[in-house]
Amino acid sequence: MPFHLVVPAAGSGSRLGGEPKQFRLLGGVPVLIRTIEAFLSVRGFEGVVIAAHAGQVGRTAEMLRSFFGDGSFEIVAGGDTRQESVRRALDAVPDASELVLIHDAVRPFVTNDLVESIVDLAKRRGAACPAVPVADTLRRVLDNEFGETIDRRNLWQVQTPQAFRLEAIRASHEWAARTGLIVTDDVELYQRHVGPVVCVEGDRRNFKITDAGDWELAEILVSGGKTT
Ligand code: C5P
Repeated sequence: MPFHLVVPAAGSGSRLGGEPKQFRLLGGVPVLIRTIEAFLSVRGFEGVVIAAHAGQVGRTAEMLRSFFGDGSFEIVAGGDTRQESVRRALDAVPDASELVLIHDAVRPFVTNDLVESIVDLAKRRGAACPAVPVADTLRRVLDNEFGETIDRRNLWQVQTPQAFRLEAIRASHEWAARTGLIVTDDVELYQRHVGPVVCVEGDRRNFKITDAGDWELAEILVSGGKTT
């Protein structure tokens, strides 16, 4: 089924410091380019809308042009939150597009198989999202002391790409903007406004590059496992 990709890439990358992660070179290629490349060969891919930081729109366009030519990409200025960045990008997706996949700019290791199963399930069931079961013990920490242990049964860590019918996820964002609700992903908006989302077992390699340890891991993965 044809789909459009939306990539929120307007974060400042403050947890890693320095250059925002989406622009950093991973094995010589910017993270954002690697992330988009992971979708180009998936059956049904029609185009991508990227939300870039308002001050980085020109730079992002130049970078994309140098890798993809004048292909089917569009860039919009993102907002102060991921949610606002996604909402603005969704507005720029062509109305004729039925299905949209929303994927973090900083998850470059998503596989073709995972994207295809998300597209297939969203097509049949309306909305789908990958997640992985929590492996560690979960415990609250307050002032460097352990508090309550949280039962990890049935707890999953949510990933992207998250796939929805374009009209339904647009309506969910409009509803959230009207009510002032701000959440951390699109599944929550959809669940609250439209209904259930199918969970697909994701892939631990599809992690979100967040801190320095993630960056080191990403470098090892692109070097084929060589650590020197
Ligand atoms: O900060 P967080 O981990 O939620 O970032 C997830 C994704 O959302 C990143 O790709 C980041 O660039 C993007 N983002 C955005 N606009 C913001 C904040 C984050 O597009 N205002």
